[in-house]
Amino acid sequence: MNFHILTLFPEMIEQGLNTSITGRAISNGLLSIEAINIRDYAFNKHQSVDDYPYGGGAGMLMQAEPVYLAYEAVRKKIAERKPAEAETEEPAEAEQLEEKPVTGSEEEPVKEKKLRVVYLSPQGDVFSQGMAEELAKEEDLVLLCGHYEGIDERVLEEIVTDYVSIGDYVLTGGELPAMVMVDAISRLVPGVLHNNVSAEFESFQDNLLEYPQYSRPEEWHGKKVPPVLMSGHHANIEKWRREQSILRTYERRPDLLEKSNLTEKEKKWLKD
Ligand code: ADE
Repeated sequence: MNFHILTLFPEMIEQGLNTSITGRAISNGLLSIEAINIRDYAFNKHQSVDDYPYGGGAGMLMQAEPVYLAYEAVRKKIAERKPAEAETEEPAEAEQLEEKPVTGSEEEPVKEKKLRVVYLSPQGDVFSQGMAEELAKEEDLVLLCGHYEGIDERVLEEIVTDYVSIGDYVLTGGELPAMVMVDAISRLVPGVLHNNVSAEFESFQDNLLEYPQYSRPEEWHGKKVPPVLMSGHHANIEKWRREQSILRTYERRPDLLEKSNLTEKEKKWLKD
């Protein structure tokens, strides 16, 4: 999967994501994370990318043109990477990327998916595991990081497909939210976590929080590992873990419980 991050602070992205699991996945060729400096697309000699908002008000706005040129450069790069696909398909790849996704009637073939461009903003839909799962299916994902008081609305209208917030608080820029998204999406890309099992059985699987886990020693500070986990009885262990997940979700995130698929028996057990 290829992430293309449009930012005024590429070093922040590079330092943050070239380490640990994402760093290893980049080295293994499972991921590419490219930070594109919007300032490189400034069109004046001072390389400025911001200006005062029309109508007045505090702060500066990122101008439309440098953002658009940076986006165009990414689009071109993606199209060049897929020359074979572009040759076989009609219309050309570059045009396909511009078109809105078509639901596909009987006569019309379904066209190539539109390039997703996410603008990180507190005004967006709140990021979730479900969103991460959906976006992990994309081959390319563009993340646009704003700064100052935001970005000229016209370029957002033209290029952005998704507005995403990482929570109801305001940060100084979109870089940290973009990194949060890259991290959450990357670990769902096959091979990134080594054992895909751990991405499957964890918090938010079926909207339940993860059960408690224990490792050696068997006793620590007088606290013993729950005996069922030492029993070797797999069915009992699974049952215990499921119960713990349900209890934990009930205590810590009851809002999630409404969306989880509890059986009638489990619902009754929880009530009792
Ligand atoms: N930019 C500033 N604050 C943000 C937030 N909470 N989520 C996404 N992008 C942001």
